[in-house]
Amino acid sequence: MLYFDNTATTFPKPESVYKAMDEFMRHSAANPGRSGHKMSIIAEQAVTETRNLLAKFFNARNVSNLVFTLNTTDALNIAIKGVLSSGDHVITSCLEHNSVSRPLQRLKRDGIISVDFLKASTDGFIAPADVKNAIKSNTRLIVLTHCSNVLGTIQPIKEIGRIARDHGVLFLVDAAQTAGVLPIDVEEDFIDMLAFPGHKALFGPPGTGGLWTRQGLVIGYFREGGTGKDSQSEIHPAEMPYRLEAGTPNTVGIAGLNAGVKFILNEGIKKIHAHELALTKRLLEFFTANKDKFTLYGPADCANRLSTISFNVKNMPPEEVSAVLDNSFDTASRSGLHCAPLVHKHIGTFPEGTLRFGLGYFNTAEEVDKVARALEEIASA
Ligand code: ALA
Repeated sequence: MLYFDNTATTFPKPESVYKAMDEFMRHSAANPGRSGHKMSIIAEQAVTETRNLLAKFFNARNVSNLVFTLNTTDALNIAIKGVLSSGDHVITSCLEHNSVSRPLQRLKRDGIISVDFLKASTDGFIAPADVKNAIKSNTRLIVLTHCSNVLGTIQPIKEIGRIARDHGVLFLVDAAQTAGVLPIDVEEDFIDMLAFPGHKALFGPPGTGGLWTRQGLVIGYFREGGTGKDSQSEIHPAEMPYRLEAGTPNTVGIAGLNAGVKFILNEGIKKIHAHELALTKRLLEFFTANKDKFTLYGPADCANRLSTISFNVKNMPPEEVSAVLDNSFDTASRSGLHCAPLVHKHIGTFPEGTLRFGLGYFNTAEEVDKVARALEEIASA
């Protein structure tokens, strides 16, 4: 099987991830921090160690402010709804996933906030100057994807973070596509809140993710319950991480995420990125050489992009091509709007969308050549 759907979820995972989860589930999966017995303490230590590991990975100093979430969508919802209040203005972009645009649209429809969705360039980049020009006296938040999950374009978050900081506006980064494959430094990039998945480039399992928030930022919360702490108190603890982590966490997933991050640290993030870019270049060259049969969306070169490639076979609906790839060539891809409808309106592919490949660290040049031959066959049929 050729797996080219790494933008949605990476597959396979490193062997060490499977092993860590199996071992944790068999020997350590007691309830962390609740009971005082040995296995409960080991489970709690695994959660704390992974929290420390991730905080270090993103150069976040206040470790307790890194909380585990279900996924990036969960983290973004907590962040967006936790900081906005009546009368706030928000700046975001047409590149956003529904996990950003839907919470914002809901708050807008409820009359709570106003929002500006900035346009991207034709290739899919947001201009920092546009962000700066959109700031108003009531702008509370700039929320931006680090990389488009449709076009693979990397956004200039450091420049935008600097603008946000200079204007006293909060900066929330959706790192769904970048955490694990691009270096992210919350200090250098002027990030106030970072939402990230465990199950994509960090190589953890589905059902894992996290949110880091800057020290001193008070995030409203809606989940209240058991934390293993202050059980006598009638109200939920206000301090992090308990504030945003109610209930038994996904310890088995967190153990897998721990192994995923360690795999990246051992391999080296630069090596991972370089391998994925080499594959991307190979596929982009194929599309450039076959412009008569395929339409490529987003940049045709590798500058400021990741390995997410959107394209269409001329005169064929993307879902049909995806089905043929799956059924006749055992190749996994994703077709449609990729939960990011605004960017498809921007590039003119709404509502049918595009076919998307997400190349991963475990893909090879031979696999890219194989899928290129399959695409040629489909386009010539
Ligand atoms: N957000 C994931 C994607 O882009 C699921 O496919």
